[in-house]
Amino acid sequence: MAQQGWLDGYTAVLTGAGGGIGRAVAERYLAEGAQVVVLDRDEASVAALAEAHPGRAFGVFGDVRDPQAHVDAVALAQERFGRVDVLVANAGVFDFWRPLPRYSLERLERSFDEIFAINVKGHLLAVKAAETALRQSRGAVILTTSVAGLNAAGGGVLYTASKHAVVGLVRQLALELSPDIRVNGVAPGATLTGLSGVDALDEGRRSIQEVGDISAAVSKILPLGFAQQPQDHAGAYVLLASRENARAITGQIIVSDGGQEIRAIG
Ligand SMILES: NC(=O)c1ccc[n+]([C@@H]2O[C@H](COP(=O)([O-])OP(=O)(O)OC[C@H]3O[C@@H](n4cnc5c(N)ncnc54)[C@H](O)[C@@H]3O)[C@@H](O)[C@H]2O)c1
Repeated sequence: MAQQGWLDGYTAVLTGAGGGIGRAVAERYLAEGAQVVVLDRDEASVAALAEAHPGRAFGVFGDVRDPQAHVDAVALAQERFGRVDVLVANAGVFDFWRPLPRYSLERLERSFDEIFAINVKGHLLAVKAAETALRQSRGAVILTTSVAGLNAAGGGVLYTASKHAVVGLVRQLALELSPDIRVNGVAPGATLTGLSGVDALDEGRRSIQEVGDISAAVSKILPLGFAQQPQDHAGAYVLLASRENARAITGQIIVSDGGQEIRAIG
């Protein structure tokens, strides 16, 4: 991709950018002139990103449930680039649409803890670790939520609740961190990635790609008529990161879903 320059000289820290949407955002940020530090539990993929962009991309291998992993990622960005302008908290896991009746009490408790620890606490810890650096740069936070953060049926009860919680983080943190830091979210619709499940349901290695031909099913019902690729959402993250182009935008969610949300039954 040709360099566009919307983020020239920016430094971004991204979680869950080893693959999928986060990886597409990291690649696009690099194309826009930014340098990146990526935190992910997939060691090989963060190493590959760093190798592909020597001196401009660095990886931290770790888990977003671990506060120290976020501290290490921000410290690495400061050490290499002297600043953090953007924090993209994006790592997430899925519940494969499991409804409440299909949980035992014990699995419900463990699954709640795992999904909320990754999808919600992981985002919050990332913001906390980057707060001081972002205040200094008057930077931006972007949290990945989902259409499941705004409506029912984009996941099961735990995923949907966790993504609604991310919308709550966006709104509350936008107030608490203003005027220094803008806080916004992106809500992708069904996207062709390797989004995985949770260990508490023995689905840690299961990928949404195994569910079937989501592309064909989704293409038929979406107003825009195509299943989304990770790259389709990257522009929204660029806009929200840019001081020049999003100076007055905070506490908002950009829905990037092919028109899914506007469709009534019929
Ligand atoms: N794929 C979709 O249809 C879709 C739709 C809406 C929102 N989302 C959200 O987009 C975000 C990215 O998901 P994706 O679809 O690109 O999936 P993905 O699995 O391709 O990417 C997620 C990345 O996060 C990493 N990760 C997961 N848990 C982690 C942890 N505990 N610690 C560190 N890294 C961890 C994975 O290794 C992976 O690289 C998630 O928050 C997801 O909920 C996805």
